[in-house]
Amino acid sequence: MKRRSFFQKTTTAILGLGLVGKSFASNKKVKNGKTAVCATVEGNKLSFYSEAINDSINIFHITDTHLFKDDKRGIPYQEFSGRMSKAYNETMHFQTREKTNPEETFVKTLKLAKEANADLITLVGDLFSFPSEIAIEWVLARLKETGIPYIYTAGNHDWHYEGMYGSLEELRDTWTKKRLLPLYQGKDPLMGTTDIKGVRFIAIDNSTYEINEAQLAFFKEQVSSGLLLVLLVHIPMYAPGKSISFGCGNPNWGAENDGVFELERRPKWPEAGHTQTTFDFHKEVFSAPNLLGVLAGHTHRFSMELIKGTPQIVTDDNASGGYLDIDFLPMEVKDKKLILESE
Ligand SMILES: [Fe+2]
Repeated sequence: MKRRSFFQKTTTAILGLGLVGKSFASNKKVKNGKTAVCATVEGNKLSFYSEAINDSINIFHITDTHLFKDDKRGIPYQEFSGRMSKAYNETMHFQTREKTNPEETFVKTLKLAKEANADLITLVGDLFSFPSEIAIEWVLARLKETGIPYIYTAGNHDWHYEGMYGSLEELRDTWTKKRLLPLYQGKDPLMGTTDIKGVRFIAIDNSTYEINEAQLAFFKEQVSSGLLLVLLVHIPMYAPGKSISFGCGNPNWGAENDGVFELERRPKWPEAGHTQTTFDFHKEVFSAPNLLGVLAGHTHRFSMELIKGTPQIVTDDNASGGYLDIDFLPMEVKDKKLILESE
């Protein structure tokens, strides 16, 4: 398995953003201008600071656990689950370099979330290497034990049986309905929200790399609510210079750059690339004045991009122990004075 880099040493990035429209009063609604955000990272700890935040929020962000657990109900599907059932059986912990595995890392991460008394667990896909019934039941039970609210959106592997006939949309629809549905807790699997202390976490399924019209309209509606928003997606949003894995709204995405369709036994990405709707979504996301940031997965590698003033954070894979412990915090008076106030 490919090794990944993480911020080995203490690394702090401070992003002072869009310092206009400074008066957000106390209701957390963004009245005018872009929300001013500072974002810092130290190891696994990510902190967002904003004048518009009054109450502290802690979330645990988990992506790409790649559980492969299966039982006899999976036997008829082995033809489609074979490769991925062996992909992450034994992993190396991203910090300790010790041998571990997805079940162990998932349980350990939930334990940390519990100890931190987290307000929310955000699960942004590839929790599973294929839609195994026993793995989904096991996750639901572990999440229930924590007693912590969670929000889930799928990754490209969660619903994918490799080599099974059908378009990506059809396969996603089929296996979401047949297997993944309980994870959505009654929300629309393609788009859902959870509000925590006035901040709205929006899960949008972009696991086919594409966004549909209904999802775009839904996102616009959330933006117009004026609430502080955090966007959760599996596939990172395109940022200049990044690889094709940053595939949502990526001008290079399409048949020409699809190097793994044979390996993954799925239809090749379209010749024409993204739909206009997907590009429009990218524009909307990075024009949203009340968006604190984007949290994603898929690449199995930590990264932090700043796109038109909005931070996007991609998390190391949980299969190797990766996760982020994220705080949303009010800005202290001294920080407001230094960073937000002009002479
Ligand atoms: Fe993925």
